[in-house]
Amino acid sequence: MDLPTPALRLAAGPTALRRFTAGDAAEFAAIHHDPLNVKWAGADAGMSAERAAALIQGPVDDGWDDGSLLRFAIVERLDAGEQVVGTISLQDVRRTPGGGAASVGIKLLAAGRGRGSGQRAVGLACDYAFGTLGLEVLHWRATVGNAPSRALAERCGFTLAAEIPGFGHVDGQVASGWLLVREAEPRPGPAELDTRTVVPRLGDGSVVLRALQAADAAQLVANCTNAEAVRWTTVPLGYTRDHADHFINTITPDGWRSRKTLTFAVADPASNRLLGTVDLQCKHPGAAAVGINFGEHARGTGAAEDAVRLLADYAFNQLNLSYLHWSALVPNWGSRKLAWKLGFTFEGQIRGQFNDRGTPADRWILSLAANDPRTPQTPWDGPAAPRR
Ligand SMILES: CC(C)(COP(=O)(O)OP(=O)(O)OC[C@H]1O[C@@H](n2cnc3c(N)ncnc32)[C@H](O)[C@@H]1OP(=O)(O)O)[C@@H](O)C(=O)NCCC(=O)NCCS
Repeated sequence: MDLPTPALRLAAGPTALRRFTAGDAAEFAAIHHDPLNVKWAGADAGMSAERAAALIQGPVDDGWDDGSLLRFAIVERLDAGEQVVGTISLQDVRRTPGGGAASVGIKLLAAGRGRGSGQRAVGLACDYAFGTLGLEVLHWRATVGNAPSRALAERCGFTLAAEIPGFGHVDGQVASGWLLVREAEPRPGPAELDTRTVVPRLGDGSVVLRALQAADAAQLVANCTNAEAVRWTTVPLGYTRDHADHFINTITPDGWRSRKTLTFAVADPASNRLLGTVDLQCKHPGAAAVGINFGEHARGTGAAEDAVRLLADYAFNQLNLSYLHWSALVPNWGSRKLAWKLGFTFEGQIRGQFNDRGTPADRWILSLAANDPRTPQTPWDGPAAPRR
């Protein structure tokens, strides 16, 4: 079978897939010791490094040789350098003259959770399966109750096909399983439509909302490495120029194309300098969640408020949404106060609902309906503003 050499390396932003080598034995064993992998993926909690090395040089290499099991290491660029953060495999690969099928399996280490590594790894594996291998369909198997696995699959384009008794396992016991499926996109014909998206340009004189541009990259890195951004948002840690380029060139155009995440750059209309970003996360019809991150230089200037006013006008008047939601990690008072100024109503605090890079943390939820006034609805009852 015509399969790539061990030098194969697939990359997306800070995440790459490559084949395991014996030098990865300690990490390979650690993946199997991880309690979530033991619980949901039947990982061998007692695996020694010697056993891991033997597996890498035995069945893992054999799987590549006979083409039936293609196991990748997921490596991520972290502060301390490149590190193995999990494994993803194409299992039960069956290639036919017209295409074929395989099943995707993923196990992450804690260091790989909550930073987008899983999603990028699945994207790379799917592109490889559909593009390089020419497969037609991929399966994803998750035990009923393993919501993070199902959610990851759904974020990566898989849809639920069936819930099957006895198709899953948890804690060594047989359980019901979900089967999710993703099919290859139809191959583009010669007269493919131009599906590039046009990001609207919105302005009120004080700020402009526009598409992110290549020239925004350096400021985006500064905004995303700022301590407040790291503390309060889910921006990847150790944000680099590569992250910014990937965000500008791939993630945001994909978000507009799928209409799932509509990201705008907020810029100074005179200088075109990037102030921050705002986005609408369109999770279900009629409503969207607002995301915002402003650079330190642009905070406390009123620009964030102007930007969200434009965004809300666009959401309600152009997209015809009925509700906007605002979600903040507790106690992000600056964010909550901005939402309050814009007329959002405080709905409540939900314990443990915010994924703070792998740790459950409390979340505030606020909402704004299309016909709500865009002014504070109650007297401010949070802490006084700190001195700037
Ligand atoms: C959240 C953010 C967009 C707000 O933009 P901003 O320009 O700072 O907003 P504003 O200055 O108009 O409003 C924030 C208000 O909160 C106040 N505030 C800030 N920190 C506060 C604190 N710890 N306690 C009480 N009030 C606080 C500010 O003083 C200001 O109130 P004021 O106008 O009465 O002085 C911006 O600070 C930011 O990008 N932060 C980092 C990323 C982030 O937290 N994003 C939101 C995720 S939900």
